[in-house]
Amino acid sequence: MALLRRRLKVLVTVMMVNLFIFILVSRHSGQDKNSQHKIRIPGKPFWSKLVPNKAYWNLRQQVLDLTNNPILSANDSADDLPDWLNSTALASNTCDPDHKVTTQVKDYNSLPDRFKDFLLYMRCRSYPLLVDQPHLCSEPPFLLLAIKSLAPHFDRRQAIRQSWGRAGVLANRTVVTVFLLGNTTGVDNHPDLSEMLRYESARHRDIIQWDYRDSFFNLTVKEVLFLEWVQTRCSEVQYIFKGDDDVFVNTFHILNFLGGLSGSKARDLFVGDVITNAGPHRDKKVKYFIPESMYVGMYPPYAGGGGYLYSGDLAARLHNASQSVALYPIDDVYTGMCLRKLGLAPEKHKGFRTFDIEEKYRSNPCAYKMLMLVHPRTPQEMIQIWHWLSNPDLNCQ
Ligand SMILES: *[C@@H]1O[C@H](CO)[C@@H](O)[C@H](O)[C@H]1NC(C)=O
Ligand SMILES: *[C@@H]1O[C@H](CO)[C@@H](O)[C@H](O)[C@H]1NC(C)=O
Ligand SMILES: *[C@@H]1O[C@H](CO)[C@@H](O)[C@H](O)[C@H]1NC(C)=O
Ligand SMILES: *[C@@H]1O[C@H](CO)[C@@H](O)[C@H](O)[C@H]1NC(C)=O
Ligand SMILES: *[C@@H]1O[C@H](CO)[C@@H](O)[C@H](O)[C@H]1NC(C)=O
Ligand SMILES: *[C@@H]1O[C@H](CO)[C@@H](O)[C@H](O)[C@H]1NC(C)=O
Repeated sequence: MALLRRRLKVLVTVMMVNLFIFILVSRHSGQDKNSQHKIRIPGKPFWSKLVPNKAYWNLRQQVLDLTNNPILSANDSADDLPDWLNSTALASNTCDPDHKVTTQVKDYNSLPDRFKDFLLYMRCRSYPLLVDQPHLCSEPPFLLLAIKSLAPHFDRRQAIRQSWGRAGVLANRTVVTVFLLGNTTGVDNHPDLSEMLRYESARHRDIIQWDYRDSFFNLTVKEVLFLEWVQTRCSEVQYIFKGDDDVFVNTFHILNFLGGLSGSKARDLFVGDVITNAGPHRDKKVKYFIPESMYVGMYPPYAGGGGYLYSGDLAARLHNASQSVALYPIDDVYTGMCLRKLGLAPEKHKGFRTFDIEEKYRSNPCAYKMLMLVHPRTPQEMIQIWHWLSNPDLNCQ
C-alpha cells in the first residue's frame, strides 16, 4: 500500500514538472514568433578537415593520436585516413634513422646539429641495456632515488652515495639509489671510461646504463627507458625521486613528507618546482631554444628536471601514457606532456628550490631543514650539508 502511494506521488510530481516545462517552452516559442527568421545556419561544417600540422612534433603527435584512436583503429580499412597520415604513419617506431625528416622539416638543413640528430632518431624508444641491476628492488623499496648522471661524473655519484643518496634504511624506511647513464664512449670526443665504470658498477651495484648517446636532447630517451625499467624491475616501489646529480636532496624531509600521505594524494603524487604558462624559447642562443618548425603551442605545466617526486602507481600510468606521446627534446616538458595525457598536472611544492635559495642563507644549516631539494650543489657541498642535517644536536627553531 505504502509502495503504491509513493509511486503515485512520484507520478504526480513527474506530471507537474512536465506541465511546468510545457508552459515554459510554449511561452518561449510564443515570444520568438517574430524572430524565427533569425535561425542561424553555420557557415562551415562544425568539424574541420584534418590537415597536417606544419610543426614536426605536432605532426607526429597527430599521427599518434589518430593511430591510437579506438574508433579509427577498430576498423581494418584505413581508407578513411588522409593520405598524409598514411605516409607518415608507415614510418613509425623503428630505430633506423628517418631520412624523410630532411624534407618534412622545412628548415632542416639550417638547424643546429643537435636538432638534426634528434629528428633523425625521434621514433626510436628502445636501446639495449649495457648494465642492469635486476635485483635492486627484490625487496620493494619505499623510496627509489633515480639520478640522471653522466659517465665522467664519478665524484658526484660518490658524494651522493656518501650523503643524501645513501641506500639502506633511513628513518625506518627502505631507500634504494640508482644512477641512470647512457653511453659516452666513442661519441662526442669523450674519453673511454668504460673500464672505470665497470669497476664502479661491480663495486656499488647501483648503475644502469643503456647504449645510446648520452646528450641533452636524449634525456627524454633516458626518461622513457627509465619508466620501462621501473615497470620490469621495480614496479612495487612506493615513491620515486628522479633528479640530477648536481642537486642536494633532503632525504629526511622527503621521507617525512611522504609518510604523511594517503589515499589519492599518495596515489596521484607528482610534486616539484612547477613551471606553468611557459612555451618554447625562440631565441637561438638559449639552451632550451626550439624552432617553430619543430613545435608550436604552449607547454603544459611541468616540474623542472632538477628533481621531482612521484608515486610508483603514477609511474606505471606515465609509462603507459608515454607510448602515445611523441618524444620531445626537453625531458621535463615531455614528462609534463605525459601527465597532461593522463589528465593530471604536477603540483608545486615550495621545498623544491631548483633556482637555489638566497645567498645569505646558503651556509646556514637550518635553511635546509625544511627543504626538499636545492640546486645546484657541488659534491663537497652535498657532504657538508648532509653532515649538518644528520647532526642530532642541530637545533633549529
Ligand atoms: C569500417 O569501415 C567500413 C567501410 O569503410 C564502414 O562501412 C564501417 O561502418 C566502419 N566501421 C566503423 C566501426 O567505423
Ligand atoms: C597507404 O597508401 C598506399 C598508397 O598511397 C597504399 O598502398 C597503402 O595500402 C596505404 N596503407 C595503409 C595502411 O592504409
Ligand atoms: C618501522 O616500520 C615498520 C614497518 O614499516 C613498523 O612496523 C615499525 O613499527 C616501525 N618502527 C618504528 C620505530 O617506527
Ligand atoms: C658505446 O658507443 C660506442 C660508439 O657507438 C660503441 O663503440 C660502444 O661499443 C658502445 N658501448 C659501450 C659499452 O661503450
Ligand atoms: C640519441 O641517441 C641515439 C642513439 O645513440 C643517437 O643516434 C642520436 O644521435 C642521439 N640524439 C641526440 C640528439 O643526441
Ligand atoms: C595501460 O594501458 C592498457 C591499455 O591501454 C590498460 O589496459 C592498462 O590498464 C593501463 N595500465 C595502467 C597502469 O594505466
